[in-house]
Amino acid sequence: MDGAFASSSHANHTEAAIVRALRASGDMTLSLVAEIAGTVVGHIAFFAGRHRCAHGDWFGLGPLAVDPVYQGQGAGSALVSHGLADLHTNGAAGCVVLGDPRFYGRFGFMSDGALRYGDLPTRYIQRIVFAGGAPSGEIHYAPAFDLAG
Ligand SMILES: CC(C)(COP(=O)(O)OP(=O)(O)OC[C@H]1O[C@@H](n2cnc3c(N)ncnc32)[C@H](O)[C@@H]1OP(=O)(O)O)[C@@H](O)C(=O)NCCC(=O)NCCS
Repeated sequence: MDGAFASSSHANHTEAAIVRALRASGDMTLSLVAEIAGTVVGHIAFFAGRHRCAHGDWFGLGPLAVDPVYQGQGAGSALVSHGLADLHTNGAAGCVVLGDPRFYGRFGFMSDGALRYGDLPTRYIQRIVFAGGAPSGEIHYAPAFDLAG
């Protein structure tokens, strides 16, 4: 799925390596692929976060990628929607994502400015709450994301 990030202006082309590292380290909680006419065209990963509360565990979304040839046909949205539904059904308290609010906002992700990730502008640090209160403070990603440099 490396090609999905090739045309992205913000991607740093290590996403495929991050997926492999998440899998190897056992941090990947959920991995889904999207198929169109029998061809795998996209992938999404979810990983366990460090934040736990009385209402359940928190998870992170990423990386998400759809082959450029098949973008704009709903695969990315289907991956996010199905992944979030799976987390919700299995008792997650919520999920955090770093990404474009114009894309992730449609699924219910939002930023209230209370989460931080280094000096990344807080509008890109979004969360969706399934149960309990909204989290605050610094986000700690799985070690596999250290590959993102
Ligand atoms: C982002 C991505 C996963 C979307 O997958 P997709 O299959 O094209 O998405 P869908 O067809 O379900 O949805 C397309 C919608 O998302 C919007 N969209 C796609 N990428 C977007 C982006 N980076 N920012 C804002 N909106 C985006 C499209 O404009 C479209 O909007 P519309 O439904 O109002 O027309 C895909 O473009 C991709 O793999 N991009 C490169 C890697 C990347 O940026 N991953 C996300 C890292 S945060």
